Amino acid sequence: SHYSQAKFNLSAPDISHLGADKGIEVAFAGRSNAGKSSALNRLTRQKSLARTSKTPGRTQLINVFDLDEERRLVDLPGYGYAKVPMAIKLKWQKSLGEYLQKRESLQGLVVLMDIRHPFKDLDQELIQWAVAADLPVLGLLTKADKLKSGKRKAQLLMAREASLAFCGDVTIHLFSSLNGLGLDNCERVLDKWFGY
Ligand code: GTP
Ligand code: MG
Repeated sequence: SHYSQAKFNLSAPDISHLGADKGIEVAFAGRSNAGKSSALNRLTRQKSLARTSKTPGRTQLINVFDLDEERRLVDLPGYGYAKVPMAIKLKWQKSLGEYLQKRESLQGLVVLMDIRHPFKDLDQELIQWAVAADLPVLGLLTKADKLKSGKRKAQLLMAREASLAFCGDVTIHLFSSLNGLGLDNCERVLDKWFGY
């Protein structure tokens, strides 16, 4: 897979420290502990490319992984973690907004949401920003392995229904980093964004 080529490039404390704004970038965003880093590791077939943790708020930096000279995957810090001071929360929300609006190379946003409680306020706000910036969104319902098949399907249907409210290019799929469920669907969407 193209994605197994991923190599760590840099960690940035904020958007202004990212590399040159050229080529194609796809970013992974979501609440703390939603499974962003785990999903990136599954996608890239590398167990510890992105650092994962049971402690929410682990990824505090923006981590950039290069697929090749033109294409990058970006692991964004999680939002919504209660113990983060308000000033830092606000600063991060502001720079996230700027990133979505100004980053020319950003071709798509993957929003990861725990299947047991998707579309929290900040998720909705983020998707709204992305839609307003004309960015396509792939919503992944993570940790799908935690639910039995019936409940899993019900959550997917509910999430797809909810996603219609955004009036933009929003696709929703199931995902499990544990067993690989939905990886094929995820890759299909990313392949399109990356031009593979
Ligand atoms: P932050 O960097 O803190 O924002 O978190 P994150 O979104 O990167 O989450 P991370 O990938 O570190 O995963 C958080 C926890 O959820 C870890 O304990 C993972 O092992 C677990 N987890 C992630 N994905 C899955 C999944 O698909 N299934 C199950 N069962 N657990 C998962
Ligand atoms: Mg992380």
